[in-house]
Amino acid sequence: MSKPNSLDRSNPANILVVDDTIANLEVIVDTLTSASYSVSAVTSGQRALKQLQRQIPDLILLDIQMPEMDGFETCQKIKTHPETAHIPVIFLTALSDNNSIAQGFSVGAVDYITKPFREVELLARVQTHLNLHFLTENLEQQVQHRTSALQTALEQVKQSQLKIIQSEKMASLGNLVAGVAHEINNPVGFLNGSLSNAQDYLQDLYEHLELYQKHHPPGTAIQEHAAEIDINFLLDDFPKLLQSMQGATDRIQSISNSLRTFSRADTENKVKANLHAGLDSTLLILKYRLKANSLRPEIEVMKDYGELPEIACFPGQLNQVFMNILANAIDNYDELTQQFSYKELQNQPQKIKVTTTTLPDRGAIEIRITDYGRGISEDVRGRIFDRLFTTKEVGKGTGLGLAIAHQIVTETHGGSLTVESEVGHGSTFIIQLPLTQGESYS
Ligand SMILES: Nc1ncnc2c1ncn2[C@@H]1O[C@H](COP(=O)(O)OP(=O)(O)OP(=O)(O)O)[C@@H](O)[C@H]1O
Ligand SMILES: [Mg+2]
Repeated sequence: MSKPNSLDRSNPANILVVDDTIANLEVIVDTLTSASYSVSAVTSGQRALKQLQRQIPDLILLDIQMPEMDGFETCQKIKTHPETAHIPVIFLTALSDNNSIAQGFSVGAVDYITKPFREVELLARVQTHLNLHFLTENLEQQVQHRTSALQTALEQVKQSQLKIIQSEKMASLGNLVAGVAHEINNPVGFLNGSLSNAQDYLQDLYEHLELYQKHHPPGTAIQEHAAEIDINFLLDDFPKLLQSMQGATDRIQSISNSLRTFSRADTENKVKANLHAGLDSTLLILKYRLKANSLRPEIEVMKDYGELPEIACFPGQLNQVFMNILANAIDNYDELTQQFSYKELQNQPQKIKVTTTTLPDRGAIEIRITDYGRGISEDVRGRIFDRLFTTKEVGKGTGLGLAIAHQIVTETHGGSLTVESEVGHGSTFIIQLPLTQGESYS
């Protein structure tokens, strides 16, 4: 007899035989065992169900006519239980009437063998159904594998889509900002140089004027003109004027530097950077949104910066994180204007607080960005880092901001991004980044 297990299974197939007639049982068991099957035998439906709790066979041969629980009922019970529903059941029946056969199929049997059976037929049917059973199992496993592989691939596509959107969004903003900074730089450089020349020239003119006054005492016309233009005030004020012009150009130059800090293109490797510079430049870019408008007062930014060592990071990407969180805080104040009047808002804190600290115990630095707005309910809090989750109107939010921020902080920098919030009181977003990159912490 050939080996019964066609699908290269290392263990012999296991068959449960259920028959109340011991003589029958013995013949079937003998036939199957001599064909190298592993066989268990029981004499009633109840015992069969008990045996199934201990061991799941690959196939069941089930007698129809048994006292108490007949084969139909036993089969029904087997098919309703999720653990055993998949086992193929072949009925053994002395009844060859069509009704019994139909009933057998309707309760879930895959085939029937009439008694007295012929050995060859029994083995052929058993083998066929075992093959079918193993093939189905195999197929299901393959489908499962493929499905999970597809799911992984889909997740990867989603992640890379997110990365592309993130880098495109950042690149276009970065390019714009870098372009503006570059354009500002030349005229400001020229102004700066000219102002310092002007100061020198003015000094020379003063000295010259003094010489004139000394050697050519002024006539009436000159004295009248001096009074008219208030020469003493002018001489006193002119250097101050030049100095404040110098102050203003210095300020423009530092704004331009900030813009360049914000738009710095990230290299392939992490670089050491000061995160305060990143936070400041991001706040500068958002300054126009913080200003008062006809619906609400100005949003005040309070900085509580601690000592932060430089950390190895992708500064451009971290700026994007700050940008997304700060923009959400401002959005939240803007949304409050739908609910409250300008006057009412004046009595509520319109503030954003940025706190930075080093946490030596955790080997991390921490940046907290707090707003005192409407807060985030527990239900929403569970979903804010999900891709495409937004509570904003169509066209106002894409629901990507925090998903991107979360990815940058956790995956790219091995840190954590969490939120604490109380409805009606505001929210704090907490970014923690490991001091030593390459090591992440939980
Ligand atoms: N400071 C905050 N206060 C209140 N709700 C917030 C705050 N920050 C985030 N949220 C909630 O989290 C949601 C998701 O924010 P996320 O930045 O991911 O998307 P978005 O701001 O809606 O859209 P965008 O992609 O344009 O940023 C917001 O729609 C908002 O409901
Ligand atoms: Mg957002």
